[in-house]
Amino acid sequence: MPLVSMRQLLDEAAKGGYGVGAFNVNDMEQIQAIMAAAKETNSPVIIQASRGARAFAQDRFLFHLILAASELYPEIPIAMHQDHGNSFETCKSAIELGYTSVMMDGSLKEDGKTPSSFEENVAVTKRVVDFAHDRGVTVEGEIGVLGGVEDGHGAGGSGLEHVTDPDQAVEFAELTGVDALAIAIGTSHGAYKFTKKPDGSVLKMDVLIAIHKRLPNTHLVMHGSSSVPKDLQDVVNEYGGKLKETWGVPVEEIQLGIRNGVRKINVDTDNRLAMTGAIRKVLWTQPEKFDPRDYMKPAREAMQKVVAQRMTQFGQAGHAGDYAPISIAEIAKGYADGTLATRPLVAAK
Ligand code: 13P
Repeated sequence: MPLVSMRQLLDEAAKGGYGVGAFNVNDMEQIQAIMAAAKETNSPVIIQASRGARAFAQDRFLFHLILAASELYPEIPIAMHQDHGNSFETCKSAIELGYTSVMMDGSLKEDGKTPSSFEENVAVTKRVVDFAHDRGVTVEGEIGVLGGVEDGHGAGGSGLEHVTDPDQAVEFAELTGVDALAIAIGTSHGAYKFTKKPDGSVLKMDVLIAIHKRLPNTHLVMHGSSSVPKDLQDVVNEYGGKLKETWGVPVEEIQLGIRNGVRKINVDTDNRLAMTGAIRKVLWTQPEKFDPRDYMKPAREAMQKVVAQRMTQFGQAGHAGDYAPISIAEIAKGYADGTLATRPLVAAK
């Protein structure tokens, strides 16, 4: 199957009332793990690459690896997404490479660290939307600022400094025409999200629900959504790692989000932990090993297990064959003739 538009994938998820995991990749084994999990669970999937991943793997390697996934698994709809684009140029380069979706994270300035003004965010996001939609490419925007830093991108902090204001979310969606909206509800990138199991004082599901009430048809995106399960932390620490005790976003909170308009769920850290634990275990218990396949194979299997579990928990499992892909050219026509709405439905307060 050719790569599909993320907009189509999320529109279908909204119809079916489920969420779709967006898993970060840097290398071949991670792409293979995701595809094996998608096949195992019969799931559509979003594969995403940050700027850091694109630099690490080199653009053309990563692009062709994901294309290989679409050739090898023709029954699985795959959207290829730029995670946290920091500028118009970054998004343009992804679109020109062949990504079917981009995130313009205008919540931060181009340095990827400093929070921007609402006006700056609207201006750069709208510019990306106009360029992308002309080419049939989906756009995710962000309003409010996430916590933490991932691959050098992020404002740091706990994630509570810039929680999304629902009125601003409405205005932002109306002014930009984004297909998907990432919001800040107290989550942050990386392993250290919460110092105890999160409750409503640090994980603002009430804000998410308020935004969904005002924007009932807008696809919401939860970033920083790794659950950081204790069993994955334990494997790392059992074999020489030094992770401090930490909590992520409980799966039941993500499921509450999915019942309230969340269609895309970003997960990276859980997969990093799973792979690192598996690699540590081999190197710790069998120090004579030196063939990378001896540890990359268990690492790939460990990631597949986590991804398959999330696909089932998010509800995308079983939905790979629900729809035929619409070509990117047809999607571009849809944006141009208004069949694909870019004006959000706004409910009264
Ligand atoms: P985690 O660090 O929680 O996996 O979040 C990943 C993410 O949001 C990527 O954009």
